[in-house]
Formats: sequence, structure tokens, C-alpha cells
Amino acid sequence: MAKIAVIPGDGAGIEVAQAGLAVLTHLNHSRQLGLAWEVFDFGAERYLKTGVALPPGQIDIFRRDYDAILFGAVGDPRVKDNAHARDILLALRFQLDLYVNFRPCRLLDDRLSPLKGKGKKELDFVVFRENTEGLYNGIGGSFKKGTADEVTIAEEISTRKGVERIVRAAFAWAKANGKKRVALADKSNAIPAHELWTRVFKEVAAEYPDIAAKHHYVDALAMQLVLTPEAFDVIVTTNLFGDILTDIGAGLTGGLGVAASANLNPDSTPLFEPVHGSAPDIAGKGIVNPTAMFITTALMLRELGHAEAAADLERAVEAAVAAGQTTKDLQGTLSTSQVTQAVLAKL
Ligand code: NAD
Ligand code: IPM
Ligand code: MN
Repeated sequence: MAKIAVIPGDGAGIEVAQAGLAVLTHLNHSRQLGLAWEVFDFGAERYLKTGVALPPGQIDIFRRDYDAILFGAVGDPRVKDNAHARDILLALRFQLDLYVNFRPCRLLDDRLSPLKGKGKKELDFVVFRENTEGLYNGIGGSFKKGTADEVTIAEEISTRKGVERIVRAAFAWAKANGKKRVALADKSNAIPAHELWTRVFKEVAAEYPDIAAKHHYVDALAMQLVLTPEAFDVIVTTNLFGDILTDIGAGLTGGLGVAASANLNPDSTPLFEPVHGSAPDIAGKGIVNPTAMFITTALMLRELGHAEAAADLERAVEAAVAAGQTTKDLQGTLSTSQVTQAVLAKL
């Protein structure tokens, strides 16, 4: 029996986790998936009350006793420096060594395309975002803070091992999924250290003669993504660039309400989360789009070996979108729970 740790988190995270669990409960019973889960209240509320974001030893427990983590979102206007989000989400990504942040960007319905003449066929790519290094390591700090001489430094890390494993993951996935193109986004023209990315990409690409490997500077790729998204199948990039490019990817495919992600390492406990945050501007009103969480749940089901249930869920979500049974962000009029009911009905 697979065991899932559910961390709803804050705001919209709590609402979409509830929707995700409704769908998971249904699938678990109807398809006898044998899944069990436990809900953890890690988030701003607990952090503000106790000063502890994640109890000591918790990550080891997740690594040892759980097969997956299903995550909502963290972020709360009351925690000004976002410390608890880093201590929960980034700690999980780093300490579980989830080096692949897999973010599919796929248009669910032609109607949702923001681009003239681009539909489902053109808007379908995945991003392999490096997830354990880059500028996210917290190395650096401030000196003479608050004075005219203030200095602040943030160090970007790329290791040979870290770059190679994410680049390899991107090519392996492309090959396994019949994709013919892998693109690298770095900034080696301005950041000489990124030459490591360019070089490792070229080396790994040589092992995949059937896949067209193309190096891009991230700024140019960002523009091309908007003008000719059909030019991309798989994009591999650094942690920060991946963060930004996947929000562009979300924008191209219906917005953050539909963008899903999986944090993976074949030797660790994977974590699945929508790309969006706690959406404080709309949280608590019952209008948060649960679609990103449904697609995220499908990613988790596939990873846990339930490919058929995953595909059924994806089909149900697409059918609901096609029928206009959506929240306001997708031009619909339904609430979070009404969209959930619509997807359940199609299952
Ligand atoms: P956000 O993703 O929370 O919201 C950005 C915009 O998208 C908002 O207008 C919001 O209403 C909209 N949106 C997001 N999710 C939606 C959904 N499911 N349905 C409909 N609309 C949706 O990003 P933000 O406003 O930059 O950040 C808010 C907080 O969330 C911050 O504290 C941030 O650090 C945190 N955050 C957390 C995660 C995470 O936990 N994975 C991801 C991103 C941001
Ligand atoms: C994401 C988020 C996180 C990130 C934040 C909340 C730390 O934006 O998952 O995309 O930057 O990775
Ligand atoms: Mn982000």
C-alpha cells in the first residue's frame, strides 16, 4: 500500500489540497488503488504559533516512511520574509535531493490559448528545472545593512554532478517519450560559470544522436517561447531560470490555475505540487482553480504506477475545461467545489 504525506500549506494551497483529496478518494475507491494518506498541518499558522516550520527529523520520516508527498502551496502575508516557505518547501526539495523539477506546459483546450493561431498542437512542452542548486542555496548575506555602503551577495552554485544529472534526466525523458528536441537555457554569454551547462549539455547530447539538441541564451529563449512555442519539446535549465520560464509556460497554457509540477529523484520520496502559490488575493473565497492540483495529482498517480487512473483523471479535467466547467480565471463561473464535482462526475 502506497503512503502519501499531504501538506496543504497556506491559503489557496489548503483549498486545492481539499479538491485534490476529493478526487484521490474517489479514484482510490473506484479503481482500488490501495493508497493511504496522512495530512500534515505544516504552514504559516503553525509556524506563527510555534516558531517551527518543519519539526526536526520530519524530512527523514518522509524519506523513510512515505512514497510521495502531495503539496498545496506555502506563503502568507503575515510571514514577511517568507522564511517558513523556504524552511518547508525548499528544505523538502533540497534535503530529499529532488533534483528534477518536472513542469509540463500543455494547453488543455484551444480556447485557453493567449496566442493567435496557436493551439493544443503548438503549446505542448516540458521544462526540466534544476531543483537543488543554482541561486536557491541561501549562500550569501548582507554587510553594512541599512547603510549607504550596504552589500548583499547571493551565490549561484552549479556542480558538475548537479548539471549532469538534470541534463541526463531531460534527454532520457525525451527519448522515453518520443520527443525529438531538447533545448538548454543558460546565460553563458554574461555568466562565464554557465559554460559548465553549455559543455555538459553538449557532451550528453552526443549520446543522443536522434535528438536535436539546441543551446539558447535564456533571454532569447523566453522570447521564442512566446512567439514560437511549437519550437520546443523539452527545455532544461537552472533553478531560477526554470522558475521564471515555467511561469511563462503557465501563462501560455491558461495561467497558474492549470500549471502542475513534480519534484523527482528516483532514489527519494517525490513531491508533487501545483506551480502556483497561496494566491492571497483570491484565497478563502472558494474560487481558486483546482485544475493545477488535479493535473499534479495525475502526475503523482503515474509516478506511483497508476498510469490508467492518471490518464482518466487528465481526460476528466480536459472534458470539464472543454465543457466550460471552470473557475473565473478560465472564463467560467464555477466555484472550486463545483469544478471538483464536475471532474468527479466525468470520472
Ligand atoms: P501565486 O501563484 O500565489 O499567485 C499569482 C497570481 O495567480 C494571483 O493573481 C493568483 O490569484 C493567481 N492564481 C494562483 N493560483 C491560482 C489558482 N489555483 N486559481 C486561480 N488563480 C490563481 O503567486 P504570488 O502571488 O507571487 O505569491 C503568493 C505567495 O505564494 C507568496 O508568499 C509566494 O512566495 C508563495 N508561492 C508559493 C509557491 C509554492 O508553494 N509552491 C509557489 C509560488 C508562490
Ligand atoms: C515555485 C515557487 C517557489 C520557487 C517559491 C515559493 C520558493 O515560485 O515553486 O515555482 O521559487 O521555486
Ligand atoms: Mn515559481
